[in-house]
Amino acid sequence: MRTKIVAGNWKMNKNLEETEALLSELSAKIPDTDAHVIVAPTFVNLEAAKRALEASTIEVAAQNMHFAENGAYTGEISADMLMNIGVDTVIIGHSERRSYFGETDDFLAKKVKTAVDKQMKVIFCFGEELEERKSNNHFSVVESQLKNGLFHLDAKAWKHIVLAYEPVWAIGTGETASPEQAQEMHAFIRNTIAKAYNTSVANAVSILYGGSVKPSNATEIFSKPDVDGGLIGGASLNSDDFVAIVKAI
Ligand code: PGA
Repeated sequence: MRTKIVAGNWKMNKNLEETEALLSELSAKIPDTDAHVIVAPTFVNLEAAKRALEASTIEVAAQNMHFAENGAYTGEISADMLMNIGVDTVIIGHSERRSYFGETDDFLAKKVKTAVDKQMKVIFCFGEELEERKSNNHFSVVESQLKNGLFHLDAKAWKHIVLAYEPVWAIGTGETASPEQAQEMHAFIRNTIAKAYNTSVANAVSILYGGSVKPSNATEIFSKPDVDGGLIGGASLNSDDFVAIVKAI
């Protein structure tokens, strides 16, 4: 059985008080579940989030990290800094990092390597842009993002990897991939991993869908056999919506 995961990517939202308020609502409302529930607040509130969730099963992730051990990288955060405050999960390769901050596949591959070397869990994001889907290049784009970002890992390292397929045209747009489109791509991703590694690696990796997941569409998307959960942006900022999505898994 693959691990089911619902992760909330809060992006650049919620100050300290708002973070604590949302986490206390989530702690009270999240039902007992076998799924892993993860929240990713902004860097400055990670420590407060860890404290607020001490007695909870909700896990805390960072939204990014640098690949270097330490050094002259003004404004950056290292894996050790995250681990030092008890954060051992990190989102790498979100499309906003790729498009607004110029993070390339090669750069992301280095981050993945560092995180895995540090035994962190990586939620690796990737997905095609609208033009790439329209021109029917979505499978080859996704294949090359996987290959360039992740296929330097050996098979054993894959236990640290969670995948998040997020078609860029569905992020924050209200436009969701249909459950069939999600399933089709998730099956392709699993097959690509099986070919590059083997079926046991492919069958063990959790593949999340992200892009305008809401309480109204979560159940249908999560019902697909290769969809193992979701990476939730906008709807993770409201406790009722996020809890409803967790209940849909
Ligand atoms: P969204 O964002 O749910 O607001 O579309 C998803 C994401 O960016 O991870």
